[in-house]
Amino acid sequence: MGSAVSEKTKIRVPLLDLKRQYHGIKEEINSAIQEVLESQAFILGPQVKEFEGLFASYCNTNHAIGVSSGTDAILLALKSLGIGNGDEVITTPFTFFATVEAICNVGAKPVFADIDPESYNIRPNSIEENISKRTKAIIPVHLYGQCADMDPILKIAKKHDLRIIEDSAQSVGAEYKDRKSGSLGDLGCFSFFPSKNLGGMGDGGMVTCSSKELEELIHMLRIHGGRPKNYHATLGINGRLDTIQASILIKKLGYLDDWCDKRRQKASYYTEKMRGFDLVTPKIMSFNKHVFHQYVIRVKERDGLMEHLQANNIGCAVYYPVPQHLQECMADLGYKEGDMPETERAAKETLALPVFPEITEEEQDYVIESVKDFFSASE
Ligand SMILES: Cc1ncc(COP(=O)(O)O)c(C=O)c1O
Repeated sequence: MGSAVSEKTKIRVPLLDLKRQYHGIKEEINSAIQEVLESQAFILGPQVKEFEGLFASYCNTNHAIGVSSGTDAILLALKSLGIGNGDEVITTPFTFFATVEAICNVGAKPVFADIDPESYNIRPNSIEENISKRTKAIIPVHLYGQCADMDPILKIAKKHDLRIIEDSAQSVGAEYKDRKSGSLGDLGCFSFFPSKNLGGMGDGGMVTCSSKELEELIHMLRIHGGRPKNYHATLGINGRLDTIQASILIKKLGYLDDWCDKRRQKASYYTEKMRGFDLVTPKIMSFNKHVFHQYVIRVKERDGLMEHLQANNIGCAVYYPVPQHLQECMADLGYKEGDMPETERAAKETLALPVFPEITEEEQDYVIESVKDFFSASE
């Protein structure tokens, strides 16, 4: 049987190609960086404040505080709420390690709640089952670019007097019932890691909130916790967003909605063309505006498909192969295989395909043909 793919000239499709984005806006980015170089104001230069203002209005929050990474955003958010030793924080085990790491690094205990198998986001009922006297906060992670089902989560938080920190690292620009990711809970945490939908050229992050008190605390905590400078009633970190990153992100923010629209278009192209294939395409929940940070399919023979795509020069990846409750360093928490069945199944069956604003139709067709080829070869 002739393979559709092997008959074609093979092309290479990266999972993500940041060079295309850079080349499209190179002049603007270079001149923004140049401006910082000329000013030599590398630490908390005026661009940081400017970007914080723009980002807060983009997210519809009163405040945004530029920080050193998404990981530090979560750490600072937890610290600002006074969460530490003896406290429990409920989160999803199907996330990037940083979410859980931040909880542990403030001395609190992560408690896991399993996911909804369609959205891959934390399941509200599962949160409620895991609340104890020590629970202080919930960290829903808006995975792959769509928000968790926040209304029931907000209701649970209100009922049990818990704070909500949104892990919005993968969902900048996403909306839940017309409300922006990062504006739904007490605090929102963003990452500007280069591969994110709004990526810097190095590490960077942001905390959003609407409480003046939390904003002041985070400002203080991101500079070693001194108030006034050199007087320390509390411990903070060195966690500022640097001026060069802010200057780049100001420029990129202007393109974000267009980039998200393109990601949505590319995602619906895949979904349309892969209809009828033996796999599950991403489900956009009715209440959500998805920004497709990742386009993730679910397929039984995931490892075989991944090998096949890689052999055909197609970038693909598993987010995330090891659920966080089963990480070696979490062993003391006492979780075992089987405790989070939906998460564990998703970790074995999901695969991210290349999606980014500049991916071409030819590249997408090649990915689709290669996926199709895999199924026809295994028939
Ligand atoms: C869900 C999630 N949380 C937290 C982070 C941490 O962000 P950063 O890499 O900027 O520290 C990331 C991204 O890497 C992430 O995807």
